[in-house]
Amino acid sequence: MLFGSTEASEAWGLATHFSFLFALFRQQEWTFLNSKPLQIYMKGIAGKGVFISGGCGDIGRAVATRFIEAGARVVLGDLLPQRAGRVVAKLLGATAANYVRCDVTSAASVTRALQQAVEFLDQIDVAISNAGTVTNEPFLNVSARGWHRTLDVNLTGSFLVAQAAARLMIKNPRRGRARRGVILFTGSWVQEMPWPHGASYCASKGGQLMLMKIIAQELAPHGITANIVAPGMVYGGLTKVIYDRDGRLAKLVDKTVPLLRMCSPEEVAGSFLYLASDDAAYITGTSVVIDGGATLVRRE
Ligand SMILES: NC(=O)c1ccc[n+]([C@@H]2O[C@H](COP(=O)([O-])OP(=O)(O)OC[C@H]3O[C@@H](n4cnc5c(N)ncnc54)[C@H](O)[C@@H]3O)[C@@H](O)[C@H]2O)c1
Repeated sequence: MLFGSTEASEAWGLATHFSFLFALFRQQEWTFLNSKPLQIYMKGIAGKGVFISGGCGDIGRAVATRFIEAGARVVLGDLLPQRAGRVVAKLLGATAANYVRCDVTSAASVTRALQQAVEFLDQIDVAISNAGTVTNEPFLNVSARGWHRTLDVNLTGSFLVAQAAARLMIKNPRRGRARRGVILFTGSWVQEMPWPHGASYCASKGGQLMLMKIIAQELAPHGITANIVAPGMVYGGLTKVIYDRDGRLAKLVDKTVPLLRMCSPEEVAGSFLYLASDDAAYITGTSVVIDGGATLVRRE
């Protein structure tokens, strides 16, 4: 029996990690070969310490890359085992990036991960709650287990990362009007808009939107801002898998997105950088929606 024994499932797990790392290495190598030296300037980012949950995913890696290019130091938190995660971090930025294992559904895991991140970063200036999962199924088929799984990762995970980070940020020294910390979430354009078969996902992102507003309101006097970057359909993560496998999504994109295409993880990343920069010091409690106009509801 192929997947009957512990050894077999461990071997399968290792093979999966290996193929992920190999694909990532090829992608990074390609990016490196095609990149020209960039002059990137964004006020107040250089030297900052950034924690990103779900940092090994497509959007997480793109966001980490932008922060590293702008002179920040980044810790990725994700489900990969320590060694595999470290390889991902090293590929992004040899000395500027590190990895900690972090399951955002567990308060103990999140607290431990952020404490480890502080050892590398000295302090957390920017915390990005980006880990996410998605299930699309008709409302009548949604199981209690599936509902909890999505809410646990997307909403409870956001709460745990934001709270643990805020508890650390509040101790950061404050110079003048400078912020003590910035909390950002990867939301979604469906946070305010129903999407068919998206009961658990849309509810989790809608809940995250309200959570962000509460945090922004309560922590503003402490010099901590909170905002959401809400992507539309990104050619990354599960959406990419579905797009590559199923031609129907391509047709749906054409019907739904006025700009007639999905966006890349890199097109999402710049808004995180902006919201963490000094130029956005007075912005809190809001969402930057990057959806190619999808929320305009294009009608033929
Ligand atoms: N891809 C899209 O079209 C799209 C659109 C809007 C919003 N988003 C959001 O962007 C975020 C990142 O998604 P992505 O597209 O990069 O997908 P992805 O699958 O590439 O990345 C998600 C990452 O989260 C990690 N993760 C999942 N459960 C976790 C847990 N319990 N603890 C820690 N990490 C966990 C995964 O291991 C993965 O690395 C998610 O919050 C997603 O909802 C994605």
